[in-house]
Amino acid sequence: MSDPIYVALDMTDAAEAASLAKRLHGHVGGIKLGLEFFVANGPGGIRAVSDAGLPVFLDLKLHDIPNTVAGAMASAVALNPAIVTIHAGGGAAMMRAASEAARKAKHPPLVIAVTVLTSLDDRDLDAVGQRSPALEQAVRLALLAKESGLDGVVCSPHEVAAIRARCGADFKLVVPGIRPASAALGDQKRVMTPAQAVAAGADHLVIGRPITQAQDPVLAAQAIAAELRAG
Ligand code: C5P
Repeated sequence: MSDPIYVALDMTDAAEAASLAKRLHGHVGGIKLGLEFFVANGPGGIRAVSDAGLPVFLDLKLHDIPNTVAGAMASAVALNPAIVTIHAGGGAAMMRAASEAARKAKHPPLVIAVTVLTSLDDRDLDAVGQRSPALEQAVRLALLAKESGLDGVVCSPHEVAAIRARCGADFKLVVPGIRPASAALGDQKRVMTPAQAVAAGADHLVIGRPITQAQDPVLAAQAIAAELRAG
């Protein structure tokens, strides 16, 4: 896809999300819908947003026993998503089962792993018995995801270089925590601009509030696209 931007529509109102998706058609590469939206609106809500015609990234972060995740993936691919996320922490067998279920689809989505949630710092990880630093754990899980047949991982802009170096050029890196040079940071602390993230090696960028909360979301998306073209 030429436009790497997936806009995160972190909202529960399906009509509002569908209308925003329609307005953004032609200005972004796709739409990301997460658990907040899916739990509120179910598959019908996903279909309503998909009708806008943009690729849909289903950020479901599946994590359960292999059989259950394979079943959930089989249902998810019926919605024809471009990307589906699962948790790498579910282990190799779970990731393989998810990947096999996805590949049975007519148009298989990219199956992308979440490694370490960026809401967890080294102390939080230590408290749950995970003694290695977050970056080391993220690289370990990214390698395991690759060995288990996954297409890539979600990672912070600051993890891109380390994961790219270990997992190779074909492994897809999907990167949130992006802020255009002029935007408010919100609750994101360790950010990069879109151009910096792409230069670092990101394949897809996840951008939410800088577009959705802008006075004119289309203008905001166009400004980011211009920033990317300028490099
Ligand atoms: O509004 P903002 O651009 O911060 O939205 C970023 C999106 O990416 C949200 O949907 C958020 O849940 C998601 N995300 C993130 N950081 C991660 C993983 C996902 O911000 N490490």
